[in-house]
Amino acid sequence: MDAFEAECRRLYDDTLHLLRGEASLHDVVAEMPTMPVWLGGVAQTLPVVEKLARLPAQTSTKTHAMVQRIVDLAADLPWQQTYTEAQVGKHYLQNYGWFNLLSPDGLFESHSLRISIGVWLKPIFYQEHRHEPEEDYVILAGGGLFRSEGCSDRVCGVGDIVHHVSNQSHSIDMSDSDLLALALWRGGDLMRRATLGGQ
Ligand SMILES: [Fe+2]
Repeated sequence: MDAFEAECRRLYDDTLHLLRGEASLHDVVAEMPTMPVWLGGVAQTLPVVEKLARLPAQTSTKTHAMVQRIVDLAADLPWQQTYTEAQVGKHYLQNYGWFNLLSPDGLFESHSLRISIGVWLKPIFYQEHRHEPEEDYVILAGGGLFRSEGCSDRVCGVGDIVHHVSNQSHSIDMSDSDLLALALWRGGDLMRRATLGGQ
């Protein structure tokens, strides 16, 4: 096992430990392998990766070490983006990104659960979108204003969990706050990208 895999295993263990403490995520935790198969991934950087050092100051005692680990690992992670500049604009692409920790494509392997870790740096607005898998966002640092179809607006911060059912439209306003969050997806096509509103 190389040093990168070892550190990613520590990040996975951090994630498992954090989620085990959340009663509402019992079904998600049940889908998480204790010793997941390593698929790995090719490092891919993004403009946002240079700007993550401010995140550990926006955590709780439960999430601080995990967020610091993400920041320390960031240069070696396979960062991705879902959308194009034509869809979301240049500012959005320079201040957001995500990577899969657990998915059909790695870093660790699962075909029933996808755990991605996403970051958005303020001021930024994640416009209305939806996807087939049901979802839980678990906030690790910062926060945002969540607007979800059929729900009252919610200002959420570290420690909060936001659940969306399959194809429930939602947006996140991060005008005033950075956001680093786990996104847990179950059911449906785990690798199909989210659909922006009206498309
Ligand atoms: Fe979502």
